[in-house]
Amino acid sequence: MQSALRDIHAQRLLILDFGSQYTQLIARRVRECGVYCEIYPFDITDAEIVEFSPAGVILSGGPETVTEGTTPRIPAGVLQLGVPVLGICYGLQAMAAQLGGEVVASNLREFGHAQLEAEQPSNLLGSMFNEAHQVSVWMSHGDKVAALPEGFVCTASSANAPFAAIEDPTRRFFGVQFHPEVTHTDKGEALINRFARDICGCQGEWTPANIVDDAIAAIRTQVGNDKVVLGLSGGVDSSVVAALLAKAIGSQLTCIFVDNGLLRKNESEEVRAAFSGAMGEGTLAELNIKTINAQREFLDKLAGVDDPEAKRKIIGATFIEVFDREATALQDVNWLAQGTIYPDVIESAASKYGKAHVIKSHHNVGGLPERMTLKLVEPLRELFKDEVRKIGLHLGLPPSLIYRHPFPGPGLGVRILGEIKPSYADVLREADAIFIQELRASDLYDQVSQAFAVYLPVKSVGVVGDARRYEHVIALRAVETIDFMTARWAHLPYEFIEQVSNRIINEIAGVSRVVYDVSSKPPATIEWE
Ligand code: XMP
Repeated sequence: MQSALRDIHAQRLLILDFGSQYTQLIARRVRECGVYCEIYPFDITDAEIVEFSPAGVILSGGPETVTEGTTPRIPAGVLQLGVPVLGICYGLQAMAAQLGGEVVASNLREFGHAQLEAEQPSNLLGSMFNEAHQVSVWMSHGDKVAALPEGFVCTASSANAPFAAIEDPTRRFFGVQFHPEVTHTDKGEALINRFARDICGCQGEWTPANIVDDAIAAIRTQVGNDKVVLGLSGGVDSSVVAALLAKAIGSQLTCIFVDNGLLRKNESEEVRAAFSGAMGEGTLAELNIKTINAQREFLDKLAGVDDPEAKRKIIGATFIEVFDREATALQDVNWLAQGTIYPDVIESAASKYGKAHVIKSHHNVGGLPERMTLKLVEPLRELFKDEVRKIGLHLGLPPSLIYRHPFPGPGLGVRILGEIKPSYADVLREADAIFIQELRASDLYDQVSQAFAVYLPVKSVGVVGDARRYEHVIALRAVETIDFMTARWAHLPYEFIEQVSNRIINEIAGVSRVVYDVSSKPPATIEWE
């Protein structure tokens, strides 16, 4: 049966990373065209390039300048492969410089929107211009091409980039100074589609349905009749892994769901419901979930601890202990499933090459205990988060789970400031549930990236009815962000905040005051601890 499956990785593009902040975006856009691609550092060897056997290559932008001799260059192997090559920004400049053109530092940096003007008909740009002569594109460059290499023509220009798009139709080498991968470029996706599908001749096999079929076949081949254990958290990644494995190997999978006492209200019930309710009949409905009530164990260990990092460490270590114990108690399990996704793989590869990048190491709570001897099955290793979401929906998981805000590994533990007490967690759970419920009721949930309540154990006076109340404070936090590295506090309507505040104070006895957090990141972090 499996031999009938087509190889959805066969037609693929190679993306060489010159250090642009947009490199992953290029890959995501290529994948959105239905074409598989992988990202590698610009200095991979010619042998690796040949072995990868791409149908085309895209060179990313980057922060350096080709006007200096020591900066990154395109590996010779790329230009000798005989496949189409598209250079973006720095990629264009490197191509121009290496093939005999000239690149100079420009006095006028171009940053932001620019009008791209058609100079000559171009197969690549035709996808953007259609009948128009001008199109708005996103630029971010200091250097510019000043003279073309032999064989190239200029196909478009902008005010500060006379050679904003160039190509050598014979060798099928293309370069664009602007960034087609960012959404600010009008019809940038059409250009990438034209390159990946028409110019490189890839057919568009990379679809959610094909990815799921491929992953299921791969899982079956990898684990055979063995048993697999998975830590199910209720987050998107572990849920999609669970759904894939359930489809692939059914009852060979056991999911362990650890209730650490710091989960949101009804978390464990909601995770179960996500698998059974929406699925109805079928393998997912029968997902084998073992819920471990370890509230006591976590909360006892956390008693008296008020340092945020110490709390994180205890929660992380206790999770591993509990998970290990429960996994070991299962008979004959020899595989551990994990929700590693492609950006994690790229980041660890980049660190091998010693490139500068940012890792939020404290976020990887619940990693594999080193002494566990389980083999790893990681069915999402090739996927970006948006692809994980798409296949999750394809597998029938409910959108409310797929588009849920992220929830940190240490859970409410970093949202109760200082020492964690069970009674604080109970109050916080209720307040958080009200906030989230109201966000959903007002259609605001999907407009913010993350929203939650925080428990501030400072006492403040209030009057409810005729009674004086001297209780703690709840802070509401809601942010808008793309990457969680920077964030703006969400400008939620006053009436909405008022409604949430009224409900929290009226419905929860242990709260005397509600405040709204108006700090952006940086300098404030998203979580309060
Ligand atoms: P910060 O607070 O660093 O949060 O601005 C950025 C994003 O990371 C999440 N976060 C965590 N996730 N373990 C996690 O799994 C953690 O210890 C942790 N701390 C913060 C936070 O919820 C936000 O989405």
